[in-house]
Amino acid sequence: MARRKYVVGNWKMNGLRESLDEAGAIFAAAAEHPSVDVALCPPFTLVGAMAAAAPGAAVGGQDCHAAASGAYTGSVAAAMLVDAGARIVIVGHSERREGCGESDADVKAKAEAGLGAGLDVILCVGEPRKIRESGGAIDFVLAQVRESLPDSFDPTRLAIAYEPIWAIGTGLVPTTEDVAAMHGSIRAALSERIGAGAEKMRLLYGGSVNGDNAAELLGAGDVDGALVGGASLTAGKFLPIVAAGAALS
Ligand code: PGA
Repeated sequence: MARRKYVVGNWKMNGLRESLDEAGAIFAAAAEHPSVDVALCPPFTLVGAMAAAAPGAAVGGQDCHAAASGAYTGSVAAAMLVDAGARIVIVGHSERREGCGESDADVKAKAEAGLGAGLDVILCVGEPRKIRESGGAIDFVLAQVRESLPDSFDPTRLAIAYEPIWAIGTGLVPTTEDVAAMHGSIRAALSERIGAGAEKMRLLYGGSVNGDNAAELLGAGDVDGALVGGASLTAGKFLPIVAAGAALS
């Protein structure tokens, strides 16, 4: 099955209102590559303004709370993201799993909340360096997939991002063979779990993706896109990744 390439920028805790021009430049140029789905996930503070400035563009949040509302100081509900104009939400990023102590059960609840509110979800998984070195990366990641996936979901609305923690922001990337092996294993596990719908799910690679390595990473087996951190902050760095996706489409 042909799956559209999906290139998503995760701005993390970067960006002020002055950065909206950069987002506008990214969305305008990305429109020249209609075969690729492009999204940007800025900090919460910019979601509304970015979505308003780029009607039709896919803007997302980087997290959401599992609950619909309530006494959760500092948190944002999925419906609030929708209200601000978001269409997608990232859940389970390793910076939240590790930095904020989020468990697989938390990530599953957040994914369910996002889907329930009408957001498409990007669910992140990935192993720490020690696990990669011990040879246990595939087992570790498949356990995360098993435990973090909602019980039932529309496979066209949930993407999985494989992001080895040791590759995030480090300039290190796994070999293409290792990426393909991981993505193939995730796809196989999804097939066992949901059957033919697994072929509709997009599996993104994330971790030090840039304009130089994008063609190779996006061309690896079962890689349907990229989740990009540092290189998504400027049009100059992000657009070559989008173009690499278009060239493979
Ligand atoms: P990076 O981040 O591209 O800066 O390595 C990727 C991510 O954390 O999503």
